[in-house]
This record gives sequence, structure tokens and C-alpha cells, in this order.
Amino acid sequence: MSTSANVPQIVLPARSFQGSITLPGDKSISHRYAMLAGLAQGTTRLSNFSTGADPHSSLACMEALGAIVDRSDPAYIAVTGVSGSFSAPTVPLDCGNSGSTMRMLAGLIASHPHTYTLVGDASLSLRPMERVRRPLSEMGAHIELVEGHAPMIIHGGPLRAIDFETPIPSAQVKTAVLFAGLQAAGTTSLLEAIRTRDHTEQALRAFGATWTRAEDRLVIRGRQQLSAVDATVPGDLSSAAFFLCAALLFPDSNLVLDSIGMNPTRSALLDVIVALGGRIKVLNVEEHHGELIGTIQVNRAPGALKGLEISGALAAQLIDELPVLAAIAPYTSEGIRIRDAKELRVKESDRIALVAKNLRAMGAELTEHEDGLDIPGNQQLHGASIDSGTDHRIAMAFSIAALRASSQSEIDGAEAAAISFPEFFTHLETLSVR
Ligand code: S3P
Repeated sequence: MSTSANVPQIVLPARSFQGSITLPGDKSISHRYAMLAGLAQGTTRLSNFSTGADPHSSLACMEALGAIVDRSDPAYIAVTGVSGSFSAPTVPLDCGNSGSTMRMLAGLIASHPHTYTLVGDASLSLRPMERVRRPLSEMGAHIELVEGHAPMIIHGGPLRAIDFETPIPSAQVKTAVLFAGLQAAGTTSLLEAIRTRDHTEQALRAFGATWTRAEDRLVIRGRQQLSAVDATVPGDLSSAAFFLCAALLFPDSNLVLDSIGMNPTRSALLDVIVALGGRIKVLNVEEHHGELIGTIQVNRAPGALKGLEISGALAAQLIDELPVLAAIAPYTSEGIRIRDAKELRVKESDRIALVAKNLRAMGAELTEHEDGLDIPGNQQLHGASIDSGTDHRIAMAFSIAALRASSQSEIDGAEAAAISFPEFFTHLETLSVR
């Protein structure tokens, strides 16, 4: 099955979901490796780099800042870094659809003595950037936004360390501060009340930087140099989430996912899959640069799918997986209740509103809340025309819901899947049993 721009993707109901696949590299980790490789001294070789458009926006920004990116060997992407000194770009830094690129890059470049303009597509240009402007300004950077949004103009220069407490659980904001702190004068400390994914901490260590953590406080010394590494990016668990949820939908499903990232700050999803009624066998686990990589086998335990409440810290940990969990909620016996997930409203789309709209289009009943959704279980859905809102995770989430609907669905804007997972529809077709 192939997707071409503006042609809705048809997804037919399936009878089962079976097979074995290897996922492309994790989007979050790819961004961080690309950026740290760009800053480091020497040539970094990155295997299994994400195939999604977003991390390639980060790589292109590194090139615009003076790093050399060599994509000629199919086994890895080689990034020769700028040894600590980014050059002045001659064009705006295009972050595409990627909030991670814009927010983390701001922290990475703010200490360099140039003026940078960071731009993005229509969706990214509506997303809140004040959350990174505030701490970076406190460190001494001069940053202009338009009503809190991109374009972001950074007048870079020497930074001073700060003591910062993240007001919202955001790994992107944490990363911006850590990247800036790494290059500032003095020692920066950062307090995270709700612990977010720690890929930045692991990646910094891999590239030779040191930091310490005491309970919730991270401490990083400034003026540290980075050295190139050879690294393999683990498979993307947030991309795997779509297929893990599909495997829950069919009593005789059987799915093997190879070389998948199992970092404990991301793997709450696996506990949720088990709580809903999945069975997960871990076949093999290894560690690479602080990241766990494993092979897992998933199928469904006998009996109906159970329900779940997702709130508090769990909502923050599952933020990227909530759309697909919500999309399969009607097929559970007890439904899914999501709270404390207001951040979903400022992702690539308003994901609470779009999930509600598309579930209703498929015939589901639900209640929308400012910070979540109540989706009752035991509902049979019919196929529908799905509005992806050009949001990759909405397009993929409803392709999974469509597998158990009573009739075919058309996913409008399905090509958005390429933002994080260009192979999604090909794998979906291979794994769906009809
Ligand atoms: C990400 C953090 C999350 C997540 C995004 C990737 C990251 O965003 O939604 O897809 O790589 O750090 P926030 O930090 O804004 O919560």
C-alpha cells in the first residue's frame, strides 16, 4: 500500500494482526544524536537513524550550522561536528513540523555569537515557544517570538548558568536548558517534578559530557566539550505503539518487534498494554549508550480487553501514545479515561479535539474534557472518513481503530505519517490479516 499526497488512504477491517518487523530508529533519540553530533568534535556514525521527516529537519539544521552530514553509506549517517563552534547560517533554520527540533535547537545554539531565525510549517508556527524562551532568556539569550510562537529569532551570546524548575513536564524544555547549560558559564541545575524521558541525559553521557542527578535535580557543569561516537538508534517504541495496540484488538494476534527501544522512562506503554490485556514476552535485551534495546513478542491474553485510567505522571509519560490508546478505547470492555493531558491540545494538532471528532465520526460516544477524554468501552465502530489534521499520530491512530471497524475507512492526510514513520502503511498492510 502506498500513500501519495492528498489521496485518502483506505484502511479495510482486518481479521487478525500477525508478523515480525524491525522499527526504524527512535525519533527522540535521533534528534538528540543529530544535534550533539553536530556540536561535537569528530565524525559520529549513526546507524538506524529515524527515517521520519522530523529528525531529518534536525540534521538539515546541523548542516546549515556548519556540520557535514554524509548520507552516502546505507549502513549509517556520518555527521562531522563543528567542534563547539556553530557558524552563522545564511538561511533561516527550517524546523519543518518538528517541535523537538525548534525547542531543543534553541538551547543548543543560544550561546553561539550569531543571530538565528528558526522557522517551521503552519502547525509548528502555532505551537508554544515561550516555554523555552523564558529559561534561555534567564540565561542571557535575547529571543524574539511572535505572540509566543515561531518564527523565533535568537540573538546568541555567552550564557550564564541558572537554577531552573520545569513548569510543565516537557523533555524538550529540559533538553533546551541542559544543552544551553552544557555551554554556559557556571553550573546549571534543573528540577523536574514529573520525570520525563531521559534520552538527553543518556546521549550527553555518550558524547562525553558529565552531569549528576540527585533525586529530581539534574546538575550540569558548563563549558564542556563533546566527542564523536558510533551509535545505533533503538527502534521507535512510540511508532511500535500503533502495532502493539493493533495486536490487542485480535484474540489470535502475534507480533514480534525486533531491536525496540525499552528505556524505562518510555516503557510505561508496555505496562499499559499488559494492563489492557496484552501478553508481552521479552526475548532479548541489550544496552547501548545507556539505552535499552530489546526484542519483544506480543499477543492477547484470553478474555475481553480491560479498561484503564491514565492520569498524573502516567499521562506525561504516555503523551505520544495517548491518541492510539484513545482510538482503541471503544473496543475495550471498560473504556479508557484520560486526564492531566492538556499538553495534547498543543501538539502537532489539538489531539483531544481531533480524537473526539474522529471517534464520533466512527460512531463512538465519548465525553471531551479540557485535559482529557472519557471513552466508554463495549462500542462497535463503523468505518468513516478520518480527518488527520495533517497530524502523523492522528493518521496512524485511526488507521489502527479502522482495523476493527465494521466497514472501510478513508484516512485524509495520511501522508502525514511520514513525519515520524514513513513505512507505517506498508507495515500495516503486511501485518494485517484479511
Ligand atoms: C519529545 C518530548 C515530548 C513528545 C515529543 C518528543 C522529545 O514533547 O511529545 O513527541 O523528544 O523530547 P514535550 O517535551 O513537549 O512533552
